[in-house]
Amino acid sequence: MQVRSGPPDRQPRGGGGVTQPEAPLDLLVIGSGVAGLSAAVRAADRGLVVGVLTKGHLEQSTTRWAQGGIAAVLGGDPDSTDLHLADTLAAGVDLCDEAACRILVDEGPARVLELISLGAVFDRDEGGGLAMAREGGHSTARVVHAGGAATGVEIERALVAAVRATAAVLLERWFATDLVVEDGSCVGVTAVDGTGRVRTVRAAHVLLAAGGAGQLFEVTTNPVEATGDGVAMALRVGAAVTDLEFVQFHPTALHHRRMPRPLLSEALRGHGAVIRDHDGQRFVDELSPRDVVSRAMTRRMLDSDVDHLWLDATGLTAFPARFPTIASALAELGLDPGSDWLPIAPAAHYLCGGVVTDLVGATTVDGLWAAGEVACVGVHGANRLASNSLLDGMVFGARVVDAVAAGGRGPSATGVMGQLQEPHGAGGGEVSCTLLAFEEPLVGGGGDDPAALRSELQRAMGRGAGMLRSAESLSGVVDIVADLAARAPDPSAGSDAAELANLLTVAGALTVLAAARSESRGAHAREDFPDTDVTLSRRILVPPGQASGS
Ligand code: SIN
Repeated sequence: MQVRSGPPDRQPRGGGGVTQPEAPLDLLVIGSGVAGLSAAVRAADRGLVVGVLTKGHLEQSTTRWAQGGIAAVLGGDPDSTDLHLADTLAAGVDLCDEAACRILVDEGPARVLELISLGAVFDRDEGGGLAMAREGGHSTARVVHAGGAATGVEIERALVAAVRATAAVLLERWFATDLVVEDGSCVGVTAVDGTGRVRTVRAAHVLLAAGGAGQLFEVTTNPVEATGDGVAMALRVGAAVTDLEFVQFHPTALHHRRMPRPLLSEALRGHGAVIRDHDGQRFVDELSPRDVVSRAMTRRMLDSDVDHLWLDATGLTAFPARFPTIASALAELGLDPGSDWLPIAPAAHYLCGGVVTDLVGATTVDGLWAAGEVACVGVHGANRLASNSLLDGMVFGARVVDAVAAGGRGPSATGVMGQLQEPHGAGGGEVSCTLLAFEEPLVGGGGDDPAALRSELQRAMGRGAGMLRSAESLSGVVDIVADLAARAPDPSAGSDAAELANLLTVAGALTVLAAARSESRGAHAREDFPDTDVTLSRRILVPPGQASGS
């Protein structure tokens, strides 16, 4: 298999390189975003023999593209963790796991302080305290940020430096193709190394921290690497997966042919930028949760037969000083936020669901753990609260390491895992779950160009499984997925073919789940079922086979 080289602008900034692990690892981390790297640093601190395997260089992850920041209660009144909890639960539209959210808001502040002690530099106010921004769905300003809206770049910088300073084994430009499961336990991965050789990396524990799947869609804020590899690998070994139907679309992606779509951070709206239609009218409360804003925008665009709307940030004072990276990206494109309204349209941004875990990140497969966007620990429900994703990765990546270091293995009946082990409402009126059959698409046997097939898939997903769906549109996507799978080359033909196979697998699962959810809730909007159905305040899971895992 040939592994694609990273684009020239994403070469490593120094050090690193491929090291073949000599002995089995205690913990192998797949992915190099905030969840994976913060877990790796913590694992090394705890004396675990840890490896990080990533298909790009360490610096290449979706974390790097995160703008707004990290939501965490680090100030005093009027904020509190109870308020952060309430905002998180409200955004998730009755599908969050409250215990998981409580952990998120309670443990988040300590994780942010640890990041600062590792060297991450966040923006400060005039008094020297952490500067806090407000974003949609938050009842107060509680988002810490770096470089204005370059928070992900700073976090990634600090974590990459920290992990390179440890003895962690770094397997950069290794493409993990499959999880290795022996006697019911995950004992490592098969991977293709930087020279194209197929290798097996063995580890007592594997942490999936491989990020999301924004590349399912043509219009996305996610980088080309976000191809759902972790979710697809988990599905292939029968791990339970849920909530994939909740794909969050970010309302204010710049409407421009550049891909990934440049983000105009939610923090701009927190500072007073407003959304206008082509008549200059405002039509939505810009500080509502993201699903509400994106849906209102999509309906306005359909009603007016236009493909974009406008973000009016002309009233913001000191735009270039407060948001230097956004200002310079706009200047490159010839836009001046001081005088121009900025063209915007929603873009696929974040996968709220993923691999089911308990409250310490254990999946249904013994020895397999998950954290960050690839996982569903229950903190996002049907719609993630803005700036809760970096926090999720830091909090639950750390919990995995602490559990592994304490000798933990399989899942406990906590959080989403508890709902899975007690399906159909046994949790006493709390969120429960329904199991659903899912057959992976049979990928391979064709000879079409994977890049062309990826584009076809992205267009089909945008049309049939995007912001607005229906039974008819979803069934059209199911047919297209089957057709593309038959025309696709074997996944072993190269990294493009392997990524395509992963995307097709995730698209297959996502459409099955979206078809089964006959209601509109959070980021899942059905044209044929426009209302929320209280009887569907439950998770739908694939596949059914391996529910107990213990
Ligand atoms: C943003 O800055 O708007 C993105 C932050 C997030 O995805 O939560």
